[in-house]
Amino acid sequence: MITHNKLTIGLFGFGVVGEGLYKVLQQTPSLNASIKKVCIKHFGKKRNAPASLFTTDKDDLLNDRDINVIVEVIDDATAAFEIVTTALQNGKDVVSASKKMIAENLTALLALQQQTGRSLLYESAACASIPVIRNLEEYYDNDLLHSIKAIVNGSTNFILTKIFEEGLDFKQALLLAQQSGFAESNPKLDVEGYDAVNKWTFLLTHAYGITESPKNILFNGIQNIHSRDAETAAARKQEIKLVAQAKKLKNGSVAAFVLPQFINQDDHLAFVKNEYNGVVIESGFADKQFFYGKGAGSFPTASAVLSDISALRYGYKYEYKKLYHHHPHELTDDFFLNVYISFDDIEAVPKEKFEWIEEWHAQEGRKYLSGVIAFSKLKSSNWWKENGVSLILLPDPVIEEVASKKIKKKSLELAGIF
Ligand code: HSE
Repeated sequence: MITHNKLTIGLFGFGVVGEGLYKVLQQTPSLNASIKKVCIKHFGKKRNAPASLFTTDKDDLLNDRDINVIVEVIDDATAAFEIVTTALQNGKDVVSASKKMIAENLTALLALQQQTGRSLLYESAACASIPVIRNLEEYYDNDLLHSIKAIVNGSTNFILTKIFEEGLDFKQALLLAQQSGFAESNPKLDVEGYDAVNKWTFLLTHAYGITESPKNILFNGIQNIHSRDAETAAARKQEIKLVAQAKKLKNGSVAAFVLPQFINQDDHLAFVKNEYNGVVIESGFADKQFFYGKGAGSFPTASAVLSDISALRYGYKYEYKKLYHHHPHELTDDFFLNVYISFDDIEAVPKEKFEWIEEWHAQEGRKYLSGVIAFSKLKSSNWWKENGVSLILLPDPVIEEVASKKIKKKSLELAGIF
């Protein structure tokens, strides 16, 4: 019989996820893993675990030779990076749920894993209970991943569901997301798309070998969505979702971004409600696959942490196959997007930047248009996030090539725009 590594865990953080993990581990004795110490920021709060388990001194965990695994589920990305760095350098394997920390320090973390030979696993950091990282890493270990689109933030999906299907207002919906333990302690990270783009950063690494700073990936959240947009969606029998997506173009480069999008009802992502997340993958031979599961909350996130802990018993490491064993793909800005824009003031929309405009509703009150615009023109400006402008992608938003300039100009003239 094969014997597996016994895991002695030092846990950083005892919030929604940390406490969830503590409970889940107690119900999984077969794992041969136990928590030796938990490092917290402050004593004082009453916690549902023996007081002797807790310390506020990080070195009690990081310098303890018995502890061979550090599990880090804290909220502070800077402190998390320091903990993870020290743990790896001290010869410990690490499981982390800190998406912001991973996204912002990906290059350094890749180098550290190579230098130390230790394992850093973070399945819970994206889509919580859906095993998306290991799937991208192991199952799609080939060059055939045509596209991947996903709902990766549970809170915004929860808020959109509560507003559009249950009639709550934004504040009520956000409060509920916070009370349920889905939202970040700074909910701006969820609402304005930061959390989603952070997750997308390292999912792109596992999907395509792309290592890009989140700062260079175009994104927005749901903060600008207007009730007019919801009416448009309802009239078209569509839903609005915050979608992270990447598509391999004909020349092999990858178009990637995180933006709100109109979703047809027969799209798998339309099925994803509340704090659930969903991932749709299109690949060469398998065609379309859909992964679905809870993307936030105590036990769903703890389940992914548990799965990483379990994988460490077998010495599992991410190999970053797309980065190190294949020719990594590169991000491109050279494509076009099919967009809908609603606005109060026409002056806020530089219509000359569009390749063409398909639809134009300039009635009193909230106005809207749909048209095609170069991705690079969105990336180099912010007008589409400001002055009450709301930009929502249309279904199948990526266009690789557009017609010649002359035809484009003609279509604008016909639409009466110029
Ligand atoms: N705030 C995050 C979300 C938690 O809502 O998806 C899970 O990463």
